[in-house]
Amino acid sequence: MLGNVKGLFDLTGRVAVVTGAGSGLGQGIAEGYSQMGAAVSVVDINPEAAQDTADGINAAGGQAIAVQCDVTQPDQVQAAVAHTLQEFDKIDILVASAGIGDRALAEDMTFGQWERVMSINLTGVWLFDQEVGRHMIERGQGGRIINMSSIGGTVGATTGNANYCASKGGIDAMTRCLAIEWAKHNILVNAIAPSHTRTPLIKKLMQDKPEVRTYFLGNIPLGRLGEVVDVVGPAIFLASDAAAFVTGHVLLADGGHTAK
Ligand SMILES: NC(=O)c1ccc[n+]([C@@H]2O[C@H](COP(=O)([O-])OP(=O)(O)OC[C@H]3O[C@@H](n4cnc5c(N)ncnc54)[C@H](O)[C@@H]3O)[C@@H](O)[C@H]2O)c1
Repeated sequence: MLGNVKGLFDLTGRVAVVTGAGSGLGQGIAEGYSQMGAAVSVVDINPEAAQDTADGINAAGGQAIAVQCDVTQPDQVQAAVAHTLQEFDKIDILVASAGIGDRALAEDMTFGQWERVMSINLTGVWLFDQEVGRHMIERGQGGRIINMSSIGGTVGATTGNANYCASKGGIDAMTRCLAIEWAKHNILVNAIAPSHTRTPLIKKLMQDKPEVRTYFLGNIPLGRLGEVVDVVGPAIFLASDAAAFVTGHVLLADGGHTAK
């Protein structure tokens, strides 16, 4: 007879760092982890947004701190991890969700657009993975690292996204490498790859160009856009004891987008 299966998803007593948690998917995951019992370090470049998320969690009876950090800056990443450890003593879970898009047709894309997207979406994830990974190795109790990828790491996604898709393909490859390197430390490294999901990131794009919404919907066999909660469930699973034998995986939360 199996033991307590419901308990496999419980995160009571765990400490999670979530980057980009001032908005969208990061915010939803921070709130979801809190509901599952974890204390959360809410990291964002926007201090008011981080504070709002942390205040919401604390007001609901959870435990959260807000930490301002630009994920592209190694000294700020080190300080954010140190601040979290000062407050909570340990880190069990990292979700690296901070990311942006900056579209342009490939022939028009500037070097600045390429560099900015790569540095936030890929270098920023690497810096957090490395810094939190160092802590997890030193602590010797394993851990979970979840990197926010996109269907753009697997398929060409939409026109004008060469920088974005390159950054997400990089995340998928890096996730597999870290999973192998850190398996001996029981640090499980996975990624989540959502399709078009209704967050501030794409809401504005759809408002500005209604035809984009039609295009997005046409990509998704389930016939609807993703909602934040559609990514929160996979993030809870990957952080929990239910995923104890899952590492190096890119979990597609995409309504069938990439199955086509
Ligand atoms: N929404 C989607 O359709 C979708 C689909 C696939 C993947 N994603 C990925 O999910 C992640 C989150 O996207 P979202 O939709 O929640 O976007 P969002 O714009 O709602 O949230 C992104 C957050 O990241 C923060 N951020 C931006 N640059 C930062 C930096 N340099 N340092 C620290 N924080 C920074 C922003 O302030 C914001 O709070 C991104 O990596 C994105 O690529 C989103």
